[in-house]
Amino acid sequence: MAQINRYETIGVDSITPHIGAVVEGVDLAQPLSNEQFSEIYQAWLDWKVLVFHDQVIDQEQHKAFARKFGTLHVHPMQHSYGGDPEILRVKTTKDSKYTAGNGWHTDVTCDEIPPLGSMLYITETPEGGGGDTLFADMYLAYELLSEKMKDMLDGLVAVHDGAIPYLSGYQVSPPEGSKYPRNEHPVVVTHPETGKKVLYVNSGFTSHIKGLHVWESKALMGALLDHIAQTQRLYCRVQWRPNTLTFWDNRCTQHHAVWDYYPHSRYGERVSILGNERPAA
Ligand code: SIN
Repeated sequence: MAQINRYETIGVDSITPHIGAVVEGVDLAQPLSNEQFSEIYQAWLDWKVLVFHDQVIDQEQHKAFARKFGTLHVHPMQHSYGGDPEILRVKTTKDSKYTAGNGWHTDVTCDEIPPLGSMLYITETPEGGGGDTLFADMYLAYELLSEKMKDMLDGLVAVHDGAIPYLSGYQVSPPEGSKYPRNEHPVVVTHPETGKKVLYVNSGFTSHIKGLHVWESKALMGALLDHIAQTQRLYCRVQWRPNTLTFWDNRCTQHHAVWDYYPHSRYGERVSILGNERPAA
């Protein structure tokens, strides 16, 4: 890994040249200095995905770290999961019918204001290996489009539907009486802090592009989702160890949990942070 020297109070080792970095010299169980916090914040904007290994924290410490970035998000389906509403459990065992996040997605884009970031803390990794998470750089996904495709996407709006993870992804019936958020967002959004453009459709939640014939929407969505799924240079790969916390910028990334460890188990807890504004072009 390349050593990045711009930070003074934390160590930052890149995983790829454009996305993902391992942060060293930080104990998340201890209060952070103002300098450490602002460098972590800057590193998060710079690298989009930050990995903190060897962190022994409890749920309150996990939530306290997340709260430094904003108000905590409650997952729209959390009422059916039970437990602490601000903690989403990510648990896969040999009896699991699916594993959460096993497909390219951005968290909860069905919300009017999706989370700005998520922190996943993995405490149990699969015996025998596997269980990595892939992250994709959606700035680069946009940049790699041709100018003609960028022009075509300009002004288009897509529908993001919370029913999709149940009906297609999880392949289970949705919990009875569930109401799914459904919202519209531009196909290309501008990151509110960096000002950079982001390709903002994902197979987890985006149902279609408005104003196109069904076949046109399917063809265009298919092309964009293929671009994300097949362009390996967009990705970094996070290899978890027990007690690793990974913090991603949900406004400019997608991720994909790799379920390659059956019949073994993996366990973690995710805390997400509410966004501040609707995604905008
Ligand atoms: C998620 O989609 O947040 C879960 C990712 C993972 O389990 O690696």
